[in-house]
Amino acid sequence: MNDPWQYDETIQVGTDYRDPQEVRAYDEQMLTLRDIDTEVKDIRKVLLLSANSTVWEIGTGTGECALALATGVKHVYATDVSPAMLDYAQHKAKQRHIKNVTFKEGGFLSGFRPDHPVDGVVTQLALHHLPDFWKSRALAAIAGSLCPAGRLYLRDVVFPSAIDDYNAFFKTAIDEIRSHASDKVAGQTIQHIKTEYSTLDWILEGMITRSGLRIVEIESKGFLSVYVCEK
Ligand SMILES: C[S@@+](CC[C@H](N)C(=O)[O-])C[C@H]1O[C@@H](n2cnc3c(N)ncnc32)[C@H](O)[C@@H]1O
Repeated sequence: MNDPWQYDETIQVGTDYRDPQEVRAYDEQMLTLRDIDTEVKDIRKVLLLSANSTVWEIGTGTGECALALATGVKHVYATDVSPAMLDYAQHKAKQRHIKNVTFKEGGFLSGFRPDHPVDGVVTQLALHHLPDFWKSRALAAIAGSLCPAGRLYLRDVVFPSAIDDYNAFFKTAIDEIRSHASDKVAGQTIQHIKTEYSTLDWILEGMITRSGLRIVEIESKGFLSVYVCEK
């Protein structure tokens, strides 16, 4: 049984990804905005993955990354707190005849865990669902799940700290998103800033290093940052 103070990961912040309609809309939107093949090529390279590697993706969503990763590694464990996301991802795996991905219900803090240390952990656009204290617990759990020299690929919305005027910064960023993506994505970004738990770069970096991971590489573009970390 969970401790009474345990954070309830099943409650979604921002978009409710337990809703099958939101899941379908998210998948359609991501397929137009993202280039999964290029993302996965980069993830394989920076995580030093090989045909023998096992990978755990946390917050897999509709499973595109897990399924693309599966072709070059031994096994992928893909977890999410949303049963609707997992159903959708599992359906894709079946359609594509991909058998080396295990989809299971679980979050950063609770639920399914691989029963052995993994070579790589991937998590994209999901850690900001947790408030900061719980992010630190999640990162410690990730460090504990990696084998020695195993690597984490963490991509998320992270706010830069070297900003004097956040209102001007957010306005410029949202205007750019509106012109390069759409009004819908701009609206989602506003909602994200207002209601979700994205944190500042120095706080996240402190939590990463205190969890026993070394930051190997940071790449930041606008609101999005990628951290490649090693145990
Ligand atoms: C914005 S989607 C990102 C999905 C996918 N990683 C991607 O890059 O497209 C966020 C996902 O995180 C999941 N999520 C929310 N809270 C979580 C938690 N505590 N642990 C694991 N996944 C969580 C949501 O259910 C959703 O599928």
